[in-house]
Amino acid sequence: MKTPPILVASAFACLANSSAILPRDNGAQSATDAFEGWKRASPQGPNGYAPANVDCPSTRPSIRVASGLSDEESAWLEKRRANTVQPLRELLTRINIRGFDAGQYIDRHRDNATALPNVGIAFSGGGYRAMLNGAGALAAFDSRTPGSTGAGHIGGLLQASTYIAGLSGGGWLVGSIYANNFTSVQNTIDQNDDGDVWGLGNSILQGPKTGSVQILSTTDYYKHIFESVSTKSDAPGVFNTSLTDYWGRALSFQLINATDGGPGYTFSSIQDDDDFKNGNAPMPFLVADERYPGQREISLSTTNVEFNPFEMGSFDPTLYGFVPMKYLGSNFTDGELPDGQSCTAGLDNLGFIMGTSSSLFNTAILQLETIDGVPDVLKKALTNVLNTIGQQNNDVADYTPNPFKGFHSGSNPSAADDSLALVDGGLDGQNIPLNPLIQPARAVDVIFAIDSSADFWAPTTSAENWPNGTSLVATYERTTNETMQNGTAFPYIPDTNTFINLGMNNRPAFFGCDVKNLTGEGVGPMVVYVPNSPYVYNSNTTTFQMSYNTTERNAMIQNGYNVATQGNATRANGEDWPTCLGCAILSRSFDRNGETVPDACQQCFTKYCWNGTLASQTPPPYFPQMVFGAVNVKSDVGRFVPNLLGFALAAALSGYLML
Ligand SMILES: *[C@@H]1O[C@H](CO)[C@@H](O)[C@H](O)[C@H]1NC(C)=O
Ligand SMILES: *[C@@H]1O[C@H](CO)[C@@H](O)[C@H](O)[C@H]1NC(C)=O
Ligand SMILES: *[C@@H]1O[C@H](CO)[C@@H](O)[C@H](O)[C@H]1NC(C)=O
Ligand SMILES: *[C@@H]1O[C@H](CO)[C@@H](O)[C@H](O)[C@H]1NC(C)=O
Ligand SMILES: *[C@@H]1O[C@H](CO)[C@@H](O)[C@H](O)[C@H]1NC(C)=O
Ligand SMILES: *[C@@H]1O[C@H](CO)[C@@H](O)[C@H](O)[C@H]1NC(C)=O
Ligand SMILES: *[C@@H]1O[C@H](CO)[C@@H](O)[C@H](O)[C@H]1NC(C)=O
Ligand SMILES: *[C@@H]1O[C@H](CO)[C@@H](O)[C@H](O)[C@H]1NC(C)=O
Ligand SMILES: *[C@@H]1O[C@H](CO)[C@@H](O)[C@H](O)[C@H]1NC(C)=O
Ligand SMILES: *[C@@H]1O[C@H](CO)[C@@H](O)[C@H](O)[C@H]1NC(C)=O
Ligand SMILES: *[C@@H]1O[C@H](CO)[C@@H](O)[C@H](O)[C@H]1NC(C)=O
Ligand SMILES: *[C@@H]1O[C@H](CO)[C@@H](O)[C@H](O)[C@H]1NC(C)=O
Repeated sequence: MKTPPILVASAFACLANSSAILPRDNGAQSATDAFEGWKRASPQGPNGYAPANVDCPSTRPSIRVASGLSDEESAWLEKRRANTVQPLRELLTRINIRGFDAGQYIDRHRDNATALPNVGIAFSGGGYRAMLNGAGALAAFDSRTPGSTGAGHIGGLLQASTYIAGLSGGGWLVGSIYANNFTSVQNTIDQNDDGDVWGLGNSILQGPKTGSVQILSTTDYYKHIFESVSTKSDAPGVFNTSLTDYWGRALSFQLINATDGGPGYTFSSIQDDDDFKNGNAPMPFLVADERYPGQREISLSTTNVEFNPFEMGSFDPTLYGFVPMKYLGSNFTDGELPDGQSCTAGLDNLGFIMGTSSSLFNTAILQLETIDGVPDVLKKALTNVLNTIGQQNNDVADYTPNPFKGFHSGSNPSAADDSLALVDGGLDGQNIPLNPLIQPARAVDVIFAIDSSADFWAPTTSAENWPNGTSLVATYERTTNETMQNGTAFPYIPDTNTFINLGMNNRPAFFGCDVKNLTGEGVGPMVVYVPNSPYVYNSNTTTFQMSYNTTERNAMIQNGYNVATQGNATRANGEDWPTCLGCAILSRSFDRNGETVPDACQQCFTKYCWNGTLASQTPPPYFPQMVFGAVNVKSDVGRFVPNLLGFALAAALSGYLML
């Protein structure tokens, strides 16, 4: 892996007095109001993208030691776990495991949430490929998708899940669904007007096609992005901006269903969404890695930071603390907010956080030259600004003020710094966001790990851009580091040659079936590994493909649906998939409750569990055949658009091709 350069932060923010409350959507201001001219000006009223002071709650916010869950998460869990019972019952009953009365089992335990399965889902990084393959899997898990509760399908898993995590491209998926009121993938792709969210036909550098919620030309799009980022650096306080701010603003236009990409949308506002608040949706996480001061390389033992609707922070022993998400941006010192320091809100901008988790792609913004439709003069000006900001450390998200300044200074490498530097969550090699889901306090039983990584990238020996288990190996290795382990238990994972030789990179496989044989002490989750593979479309598009027309986009999603369902259980030797998925959900629960494992499940475990066998010899070249006939994406009206941005980006980022 090539080492990325180091952070240089951006502009001074001037100090002034203002106080404003940030509502969930103040992006609803009209585009004409906000973009009159090309001047720096605060938008009217509540402060959009800019952080601002707010009234402090009756208990002053502080940094919490990560010795357990937050009170908010614990309270929310009571609602959520209760609300997963019925969806679990429906899913397991529908799956109909031979010789097992799922309804009776659930009913017997329904008053005791800890006896019942606790499910998590994780979506890997890998740019739009990961977002779209992940979207197909998410659609398959979602009982709201038409047809998903028919025979051979697995809809309802999402409704039965407690947690859902995304990283980088997978974070775009998770972030977008929650930004849009927990909408469904189906609803999202049903909106096909120009300018609608997930309209990926225009690359992010061109900006959205004008229409629907977006009404900006490419020039106005850039004006808006730059203007809104200025409001942040100009806000009272010291909020250094980084390339990630621009990147996050641009992403928001594609992912957030609101005028101008909803500059006022915050991650903490998810707390107040009806579905989330009432425990009708799982709890979302986005993951990023910390870049320690003076360090260039992101090592496997770097701190993994999670963002959830309540908090940002880490259970890792290095940081081992959490800041309340809403008050991220307040000037904490030694874990407290000193008297005289005001409470600040709005730094937890949803687009900024999605951008943080995917900061590897920041540099896309630097490829501005490749775009038509922006006047040269503007291009020059923008390029100058971006270059100044991004010259070094262009893949960093700058969180100033560092909420963890002075906190756990014995083990926290950034404790002395005014800023916290976060980068793309996949840069430590753990491209599947498992860290929040393997924490003992969360007691997750099974993780569905959707892997859209590009682990093959030697075209002479194999097809490129398919996964091979590299990410699971990384998490396994990390959990065997006694320092980083810190109470987590994880399945044993073999080398990637074994993945390939045993076919575990091409169809789902289970890890950690034997609860008594995990790394670390105690009980950890089983991992259901679901690798991207071709069913009806070659969904191994490069990480740097920055635009997808609607037909391609939908083909990726349809393929992802088939990946997660094994073609709705019609793939040869995959007919048992819904049953076996049900058994994976139930495995830890059976164990906890001392229940006899049904024969049908024993058979599933024999078939899908990795049993410890190694096959580490060099595998034959991997050129997977499509499982079914390819869907047709060709169209007469299509025109070939050279992927200049993709080429430029790939060149800029060579060395990161595995993501
Ligand atoms: C914030 O930006 C200013 C101006 O570029 C710089 O002097 C300062 O060191 C930065 N602060 C941090 C914490 O990076
Ligand atoms: C709930 O189930 C767990 C796991 O089987 C068990 O240890 C615990 O005693 C049960 N609690 C109650 C109140 O029955
Ligand atoms: C969010 O979705 C829920 C249904 O899931 C709906 O009841 C609610 O009105 C929606 N809220 C907004 C602001 O659209
Ligand atoms: C976007 O918002 C519009 C209007 O509020 C709504 O009709 C549409 O369903 C939303 N799209 C998504 C993907 O949530
Ligand atoms: C943040 O707090 C530190 C320590 O209390 C103080 O030195 C610094 O000036 C504060 N920064 C701002 C912008 O208030
Ligand atoms: C284990 O983690 C510690 C703490 O982060 C780190 O310093 C050390 O290098 C790691 N050990 C290995 C073998 O990676
Ligand atoms: C995890 O790390 C923290 C901070 O170093 C430590 O206090 C705690 O005891 C550790 N927990 C376990 C289970 O090792
Ligand atoms: C995708 O995989 C197929 C074989 O499965 C291979 O022929 C093709 O070259 C790969 N495409 C890319 C973009 O890597
Ligand atoms: C599986 O079901 C989905 C959704 O109904 C459909 O799009 C897909 O084509 C089906 N797969 C197969 C192999 O029939
Ligand atoms: C373990 O798995 C390997 C590869 O799938 C298989 O060949 C072997 O028979 C299995 N061993 C046992 C004891 O089930
Ligand atoms: C645990 O699993 C690993 C990997 O399969 C194996 O090497 C080891 O022997 C097992 N240990 C026990 C006690 O079963
Ligand atoms: C969409 O892209 C595919 C190539 O990936 C191309 O064959 C097709 O013609 C395009 N369709 C449209 C409508 O542009």
